[in-house]
Amino acid sequence: MIRELIKLRWPLVLAVLVMLLVSWAVWRLMRHDNFSHLSGDPRLTFDTPYRNVRPEVKYVGSAQCATCHPDQAASYRQHPMGRSLAPIGEASALESFGPESHNPFESSGLQFLVERRENKLLHHEIRLDPRSQAKTEFSSVIHYVLGSGTRARAYLIDREGYLFESAITWYSQKGRWDLSPGFAGNPHSDRPITVECLFCHCNQADVIDQAVNRYEPPIFHGTAIGCERCHGPGELHVSLRQGTKPISEQDNTIVNPSRLPPSLREAVCNQCHLQGEMRVLHPGRKAFDFRPGLPWELFWSVFVKPSDATPNRAVGQVEQMMASRCYAGGKLGCTSCHDPHAVPEPAARVAYYRGRCLSCHEETSCTRPPAGRIDQKKKDDDCIGCHMPRQLSSDVAHTAITDHRILRRPSQPVGARPPGGAPSPGSHSGEFPLLAFPPDRFNLEDRLFSRDLGLALTRLAQSETHNRSGRLQLTQDALRLLDAAVQAFPEDMSAWQARGYALWQQNIKEEARVSFESALRLAPEHETTLTFAASLAAELGQHDNAIALWQRALAANPWTARSHYELARLFALRLQWPKAAEEANAVLRLNPFHLEARKLLVVCYQQMRKKTQARAEFDRLLELNPPDQESLRRWFDQLSW
Ligand code: HEC
Ligand code: HEC
Ligand code: HEC
Ligand code: HEC
Ligand code: HEC
Ligand code: HEC
Ligand code: HEC
Repeated sequence: MIRELIKLRWPLVLAVLVMLLVSWAVWRLMRHDNFSHLSGDPRLTFDTPYRNVRPEVKYVGSAQCATCHPDQAASYRQHPMGRSLAPIGEASALESFGPESHNPFESSGLQFLVERRENKLLHHEIRLDPRSQAKTEFSSVIHYVLGSGTRARAYLIDREGYLFESAITWYSQKGRWDLSPGFAGNPHSDRPITVECLFCHCNQADVIDQAVNRYEPPIFHGTAIGCERCHGPGELHVSLRQGTKPISEQDNTIVNPSRLPPSLREAVCNQCHLQGEMRVLHPGRKAFDFRPGLPWELFWSVFVKPSDATPNRAVGQVEQMMASRCYAGGKLGCTSCHDPHAVPEPAARVAYYRGRCLSCHEETSCTRPPAGRIDQKKKDDDCIGCHMPRQLSSDVAHTAITDHRILRRPSQPVGARPPGGAPSPGSHSGEFPLLAFPPDRFNLEDRLFSRDLGLALTRLAQSETHNRSGRLQLTQDALRLLDAAVQAFPEDMSAWQARGYALWQQNIKEEARVSFESALRLAPEHETTLTFAASLAAELGQHDNAIALWQRALAANPWTARSHYELARLFALRLQWPKAAEEANAVLRLNPFHLEARKLLVVCYQQMRKKTQARAEFDRLLELNPPDQESLRRWFDQLSW
């Protein structure tokens, strides 16, 4: 009977077996596909006809391109992107320096002064003691200008290959100097200029691994964003075009974005214009690995905040454009309206952009009749004036001024979703305060993605310096993702580091220490990890270990006042006064306004029985006009000698 059945059902069994086999193969394939970006460098593995996406193809610099493409080179030189970064001597002079330009200005009890001295630009931070007229001053020589100055200019300081941002920024529209964005808490010119910052604002930089802001001198290969950032490295193209070989088929040695499929074409601009709230590089990838012609998603993830949480938040042009009805048509991209090599002249802009609209629309597409539409005085049919209005009074970099949602009725608040349009970024709020962009990339089953989300949540927690409960929640969410991440990617230094931080915040300190140790085994000079591990060691009472770690952090970057200060405190705890004094002095060389370091230095000298020096340092402390001077005086008088 059974035998009969088997005989009868044999084809069925076979069919089932085949089906199982096929679905297993499909599953394997999909799995492989899901993780194909892990199997290696996307520059080697991505299927593309373009030969210059490969890592070994060299950059040749924009000057080479200019020899054969003089038209593009000439117009692009005038574009803000072609002037995005410059050594101080080569930057266009648009700033003014008189008192009418808010120079000097006061902020946070300090005076800020910009001074031009021959070919040099100096930024001074000054504290003037109202009583003694004594002046404490910190001056920085500026080496680079960041920003064409369309809206603003930041200033970079090169301290032996370590780059810092000045506390002073030029705001072009207002025509005045003021504190740099985000500096109110610590108005001192010691904020590191990270690789991320340079990736978007310069052509190429020689990044030193494991450091936060250290670069191999001369640091830049081409300062302003150059041709090859949108076209890919030019080595093969130049030798092909200089050669004598006839070029029959299409030139696949250089990327022409207009020939790319829409998502890859957009990726060329999105590499810099889609900033989101947070970007996280995939394990093993470096910022400058990206090549035009490849999808950015193979290099990093982009996260945004759920728009429900902040409905009117101004976001970037990419997110806005993708929420527009025009985009839903499937053809619209940045280059539908923007010429990447040139910005239209002010007098031509209305006509220029109308021409762009009319490449898809008809004059009659607008349901507002021409009679009420056309400005009688200017005789303009200003499509963008009505449909892409400017948000006035915005000098905030990194958010759109022009409303790229292309609304039918422009009065809707910025960030809002156009009725019936594509969903705006992150409109379905999940359990996390960060969502992937575009939202269809949100897939926690993907180990790579959940690892990136874990890192993003941890970084968000790190930025919540004054919000302990926020930090706790974020790191709790992050921790389970990061536990899985270090299993999946045991060589992933960043995951170990983030997991260490999350455990630390969750008060699981011993495991946190071990996690940092794993990270440091993979990257022994990793500056950020060293500072985390050092702080944790001090918290655990392991002072020897903490000192050793802070010293390693200083070896990686001798320009951070914080490392010197923490060392000074640890030496003081061990009553090693001369060493503590040395470190406190080092802090004050980097930041003479550091009240705590100066106080500590007074104690050191007192302990070393150097009364005159202690007295002198105390006077310097008072010159900084610290709060509550009465109790400071009492404190000083009570020190025993
Ligand atoms: C020796 C001369 C030469 C140099 C140097 C050169 N090109 Fe070209 N390039 C050409 C010629 C010739 C063409 C084909 C005709 C045309 O489109 O102008 C071309 C075409 C292109 C195209 C269009 C390709 C396409 O498929 O449509 C791009 C983009 C391009 N070059 C970018 C660059 C960039 C970027 C550089 C510098 C890295 C560069 N070129 C350097 C000669 C040169
Ligand atoms: C390497 C990074 C990078 C890439 C790639 C990039 N941009 Fe930009 N873009 C910038 C930066 C930085 C600025 C601001 C420059 C400044 O004013 O200093 C900018 C400014 C602009 C502006 C404003 C011009 C103005 O009038 O102020 C437009 C428009 C623009 N980019 C379009 C594009 C388009 C279109 C693409 C893709 C074809 C693209 N960008 C690719 C970084 C980039
Ligand atoms: C993800 C890419 C990205 C990163 C990271 C980034 N920027 Fe930008 N930045 C841009 C783009 C694109 C613009 C121009 C368009 C805009 O403002 O929307 C811009 C504009 C600016 C401007 C105004 C330029 C002008 O000419 O008006 C300043 C100043 C600036 N950024 C400074 C910085 C600094 C300093 C950092 C790092 C601490 C930084 N940016 C990080 C992409 C970036
Ligand atoms: C911000 C990105 C970006 C930069 C920087 C850039 N290009 Fe382009 N380039 C493009 C895009 C996008 C296209 C396709 C144009 C289109 O869609 O109409 C293009 C097209 C071209 C072409 C093909 C012919 C044409 O004009 O359409 C040449 C040649 C070219 N670029 C050369 C250069 C040279 C030389 C430089 C540097 C001086 C440069 N590009 C800088 C984005 C860029
Ligand atoms: C690449 C093609 C393309 C370009 C360029 C383009 N649009 Fe559109 N636009 C569309 C499509 C497609 C729709 C959707 C039409 C529909 O749903 O019937 C649309 C819809 C609109 C709407 C209706 C929005 C709504 O909420 O109902 C307005 C307004 C509009 N476009 C204005 C403009 C203006 C102004 C410009 C120029 C600055 C422009 N478009 C450029 C393709 C484009
Ligand atoms: C439908 C047309 C259109 C599209 C598509 C479009 N832009 Fe714009 N963009 C404009 C207009 C119009 C302005 C304002 C120009 C002016 O005022 O002179 C502008 C301004 C900008 C500026 C200057 C800052 C600001 O917000 O005013 C940047 C940067 C920019 N666009 C980037 C992009 C990027 C990146 C994309 C692709 C994601 C894009 N744009 C797509 C029309 C467009
Ligand atoms: C004076 C302001 C103004 C100007 C200028 C203007 N529009 Fe409009 N447009 C409107 C208003 C208001 C509506 C919505 C009318 C309604 O809801 O019935 C509209 C509607 C539209 C629509 C949606 C039509 C539909 O099918 O629902 C499109 C597309 C459009 N405009 C494109 C354009 C283009 C392209 C230009 C330039 C050639 C332009 N507009 C110039 C105010 C303007």
